Amino acid sequence: MGEWRRMLTQAPKGTHDILPDEIDKWIFVEQKFAQICRRFGYREIRLPVFEHTELFQRGVGDTTDIVQKEMYTFEDKGGRSLTLRPEGTAGVVRSYIEHGMASLPQPTKLFYNITAYRYEKMQKGRFREFHQLGVELFGAADASADAEVISLLVLFFDSLKIKNLTLNLNSIGCPECRAAYNQKLKDFLADKIGNMCETCKERIDRNPMRILDCKDEGCRQHLKEAPVLLDHICDDCRVHFEKVTQKLQEIGIHHEIDRGIVRGLDYYNRTVFEFVSRNIGSQGTVCGGGRYDGLIETCGGAPTPGIGFAIGVERLLLEMESQGIGIPAQPGPVIYLGSIGEKAEKLCERLAWELRSEGITCIKDIMGRSVKAQMKYADKLGARYALIIGDNEVESNKASLKDMKTGEFKDISLDTLIDRLVKIRETD
Ligand code: HAM
Repeated sequence: MGEWRRMLTQAPKGTHDILPDEIDKWIFVEQKFAQICRRFGYREIRLPVFEHTELFQRGVGDTTDIVQKEMYTFEDKGGRSLTLRPEGTAGVVRSYIEHGMASLPQPTKLFYNITAYRYEKMQKGRFREFHQLGVELFGAADASADAEVISLLVLFFDSLKIKNLTLNLNSIGCPECRAAYNQKLKDFLADKIGNMCETCKERIDRNPMRILDCKDEGCRQHLKEAPVLLDHICDDCRVHFEKVTQKLQEIGIHHEIDRGIVRGLDYYNRTVFEFVSRNIGSQGTVCGGGRYDGLIETCGGAPTPGIGFAIGVERLLLEMESQGIGIPAQPGPVIYLGSIGEKAEKLCERLAWELRSEGITCIKDIMGRSVKAQMKYADKLGARYALIIGDNEVESNKASLKDMKTGEFKDISLDTLIDRLVKIRETD
């Protein structure tokens, strides 16, 4: 019984409700993001919450923690294996191929606002259902694209007045230089792997670089002296990376080279980056992204370069909170309409309809409460004006409009109420 009650009255572990008191800051951040993305020529895309499991196995990579340990995978009634998206990129790539977007004027620039699902251990800033704001840019291979994508992020954080996020940058090379590096890493780990975790043992042959991502403290000790990928990238990848850093410098974007970034998804090549906060605890990576020039081909499309990022919205909001950043206060209703008696109630209904039709936020009594209770309610709602209508007001077609800011009353004709409020709304 206790368990039943808990299941009926508590959201599943790792999920969270976004309550009306919090929603304004979510909308504010989402709208700012859409605005900045459009300024860079991105258009919004909306995709299904679940995809074929194979898309993530191939796209994200079947040696990643996400695919091996964290996916919400289920069989539907038709026997298909489906998975709640653990991230947005694979789905956008699938859609790009499915809808032949390669034939659109290139590059194709898409942004999204999604929920994502990963079965992870709960922590501050780490959820099982979380939200991402992201972009994907297809068809542009040059370092200019990398710098532009990063500059979009910087502009977005600036627009929210967020300070002090560190931009960490690395290059993880291309499949060719990585093959040589993987061999070096394997040689380095040869006498250590026996003492490492089962996941690392399994990864050593299939994808040695993934071992660098292991969170096990024992394994991390063995990796301290591991060869660094950035020291082993090929000339083309090095030139690309230098161009990216140079362009960032030219735009005035401060960045740090973090040779340890490998990212938790297999599709990346060349540029990878993260924006990290020091304020919000161990889950301080607010945004992660990078280039993925092989992914579209892996998923069945023509070879097409790609680059993108995703911001964790919960972490972004935590960061804003820790920096004391608020959002502009949202106005309460313009007017509260109260009534006493049946005739007055009818008049209020008509007035409320007309006001709302004119685009004025109007709350009216629907509880039949006392005048005192109604005024208390109007005050709690933060209504700008209140008007109580009784039999006298119905007869005279006049009423006393209360300015809730000053407490003053003004007699007005009910015929002019709407015009008056429209004017007040324009000047207030
Ligand atoms: P990611 O690094 O796995 O990359 O996730 C991006 C961001 O999502 C993280 O930096 C973090 O802020 C947030 N995030 C990830 N997992 C959680 C979680 N369990 N709870 C709360 N927030 C979380 C991607 O997802 C790539 N698709 C990004 C990308 C787009 N790369 C290229 N294009």
